[in-house]
Amino acid sequence: MTTFAGRLRLGVNIDHVATVRNARGGAVPDPIRAAKLAEEAGADGITAHLREDRRHISDADIEGLVATLSVPLNFEMAATPEMQAIALRHKPHAVCIVPEKREERTTEGGLEVAREENRLAHFIAPLREAGSRVSIFIAADRRQIEAAHRIGAQVIELHTGAYCDAHAEGRFDDRDRELDALREMSAFAHSLGLEVHAGHGLTYDTVQPVAAFPEVMELNIGHYLIGEAIFRGLDASIREMRRLMDEARA
Ligand code: PXP
Repeated sequence: MTTFAGRLRLGVNIDHVATVRNARGGAVPDPIRAAKLAEEAGADGITAHLREDRRHISDADIEGLVATLSVPLNFEMAATPEMQAIALRHKPHAVCIVPEKREERTTEGGLEVAREENRLAHFIAPLREAGSRVSIFIAADRRQIEAAHRIGAQVIELHTGAYCDAHAEGRFDDRDRELDALREMSAFAHSLGLEVHAGHGLTYDTVQPVAAFPEVMELNIGHYLIGEAIFRGLDASIREMRRLMDEARA
């Protein structure tokens, strides 16, 4: 069984630095530079999602991150043979298996693990053998958590998008229900021996209730931090998130 040891980790997702770069097709802003700056601002890890359509992070970005980071890389990927081969080549500290549909703007829901248990068990086995910690991005749903446990994942990352959307849209009853589900499922996953992470859509307004769950060991946050960097700079944007997380945890 995992323990509550250590402080809550912050993984900074740099995908949207690449989104801005790709809007002009050139070399700036450079996601690797952002990742190094995030490290200096207190990120405990860097997360990057190499999408099948390469709409933001590129293969060269992943190579650059592997070569230059001093903190762990969390490589987000769809469960496809192409991504598996890339992960096995780079052997990142962690891989996070996410669902991916070409038409979606972002990763809209959690992975359907329960329906694909056999395939996913075979898919993640070589990644684990290569030394990557395997995380599965899922909704706060008992069935999916049990399935993630059965297939041999070491970590689950709970999708906080529905909670954050409800907050942003002023649907506070829904928000509180989503938060209750996240709380309950964090404890349930922990009781199975899974390490619990959470992320998607988190902001300064929504981070603290999730950061306060004692079972949650890591938050992965991207879009809001990169957006906030426009106004206060990336360093200050990340430091404020770190401060809010520490305050919630204390
Ligand atoms: N965690 C996972 C598994 C994700 O797919 C994403 C989005 O790429 C995030 C966290 C970060 O979400 P956001 O960019 O909304 O903070």
